[in-house]
Amino acid sequence: MTNQAYNLGLAGVGQDVQIWPKANIIAPEVITIGDSVIIDDFVVLIGGTKTTIGSFVHIASFVLIGGGGECVIEDFVGISGGCHVYSGNDDYLGSCLTGPTVPFPYRVAIRSSVHFGKHAIIGANSVILPGVTIGEGVAVGAGALITKDLEPWTIYVGSPAHPLRARPKEKILELEAQLREELYDSAGKYIPNQTRAERG
Ligand SMILES: CC(C)(COP(=O)(O)OP(=O)(O)OC[C@H]1O[C@@H](n2cnc3c(N)ncnc32)[C@H](O)[C@@H]1OP(=O)(O)O)[C@@H](O)C(=O)NCCC(=O)NCCS
Repeated sequence: MTNQAYNLGLAGVGQDVQIWPKANIIAPEVITIGDSVIIDDFVVLIGGTKTTIGSFVHIASFVLIGGGGECVIEDFVGISGGCHVYSGNDDYLGSCLTGPTVPFPYRVAIRSSVHFGKHAIIGANSVILPGVTIGEGVAVGAGALITKDLEPWTIYVGSPAHPLRARPKEKILELEAQLREELYDSAGKYIPNQTRAERG
């Protein structure tokens, strides 16, 4: 994996992090990234007030993460191509003028947050609006519109997103435990590209 991620001025970055050169990282000083993360070309990642990306996270091409608020992406999250994640936006409800061409106080920017729980996977071209918490283990079908919190370990589809069925968690959590055993030492430090057997 490339070391390019280590020269971007991020607030913190783990090991095995690959940020492809055509990804656009804005306000890297408020962004922290864990271990084993891939951010594809043509991602636009805007740090906002704070962005925290865990470990084993993949952000696919043409994802936009923006809106000026806080974004938390926990471990093992996948955000598929074309998703738009907004942690804030203008006031759409008529209290003021809107858009970046309008100076404050004629415009009000509402800063909020978006939180992705561990093992969430978001289907292609989904849109996530400010203030949403996506529960642990949620899977979202392609093309969903997420306006409200999503319950853990549930598969959602549609616009607005509604539950399709439960997503079993036992196997996923079992595999996570095995992988952690394999890739982390007893002090909880990630050991890249080295198996447990090789560590001895
Ligand atoms: C949500 C998803 C996981 C469900 O898979 P599945 O269980 O095999 O779904 P099924 O094909 O059995 O469909 C079940 C029902 O949900 C509907 N449905 C499935 N995916 C949907 C979607 N993305 N949006 C709206 N409805 C959807 C189906 O039309 C079907 O409805 P019906 O019962 O009224 O006929 C899958 O359809 C999906 O969207 N995966 C995301 C793929 C993706 O974005 N990949 C990007 C690269 S990783």
